[in-house]
Amino acid sequence: MAPPVAGRTRRKNLSPLARQVLLYALFLLPAVFDLVEAWMGWLGPRPYRECLHDFGRYAFRFLLISLMVTPLRRFAGINLIVYRRPLGLLAFTYAALHITLYLTWARSFDPALVWKDFTTRPFLTFGLLAFVILCVLAATSTRKSIMRLGRRWAPLHKTVYLAMVLACIHYSIAFKVWHVEPFIYAGIAAVVLAVRFVPKAQKTRPTSQ
Ligand code: HEM
Repeated sequence: MAPPVAGRTRRKNLSPLARQVLLYALFLLPAVFDLVEAWMGWLGPRPYRECLHDFGRYAFRFLLISLMVTPLRRFAGINLIVYRRPLGLLAFTYAALHITLYLTWARSFDPALVWKDFTTRPFLTFGLLAFVILCVLAATSTRKSIMRLGRRWAPLHKTVYLAMVLACIHYSIAFKVWHVEPFIYAGIAAVVLAVRFVPKAQKTRPTSQ
C-alpha cells in the first residue's frame, strides 16, 4: 500500500477566526428566518411583535451562554473560549435588533412616546442600562481594543455580570402577568455567576522525600 501523502492525511482545521465567523453567521440565521416569516405574514396578526420578543429572548440566551464558557472550562474541562467573543457579539446583535424593532415598529421613532415609556416603565430602564453595557463591550471586543486598554480591559469586561443581572430584571418584570420562564433563567444566571466566586483549589507542590 502506498504511504499516506502528508498533505492529504493532515486534518484541515478551521482557524479560530473562521470558526468565530461561522458560529456568528450560523446563529444569525434565526433572525433572518424570523424577519422573512414576518415579511411573508406567517407570524400571525402581529408579526413584528413576535420578532421583538424572539430577539429579546435570543439576546438574553446568548448573553447567558457566553457567561457559561468560563465555568465550563474550569469545572468540566470543556474549552470553548474561542467562541466567547462571537457569543457576546450575538447577544449584542440580537439586543440591537430587539431595540430597533421597539423603536421603529412599536414606537414609530416618536421621541415623546419613547420618553414616556422610559419614565413610566421601569423594566425599560433596566433593559437600556444592560444594552449600554453590551454596546461598550462590543465596541471594545476587538484585538486592537484589548491591546489599547491593556490591564483595564479585563475589569471593564467584568461589567458583563452587571449586564446579565440587569437583563434578568428587565426580563422578569417585562410582563403585566407573571411568567415562570424569566425566573427559571434568572436562577440559571445566578448559578452561572455564583460559581465564579468558588475559590480555586491551591496547587500542592510534590514534596521531595
Ligand atoms: C433599550 C433597551 C431595551 C428595550 C427598549 C427593550 C424593550 C422590550 C420590550 C418592549 C419588551 C416587550 C415587553 C412586553 O411585551 O410587555 C421586551 C421584552 C424582553 N426583552 Fe427587552 N428591551 C431592551 C433591552 C433588552 C436587553 C439588553 C435584553 C437582553 C439581553 C432584553 C431581553 C428581553 C427579553 C428576554 C424579553 C422578553 C421576551 C419574551 O419572552 O417574550 N431586552 N423588551
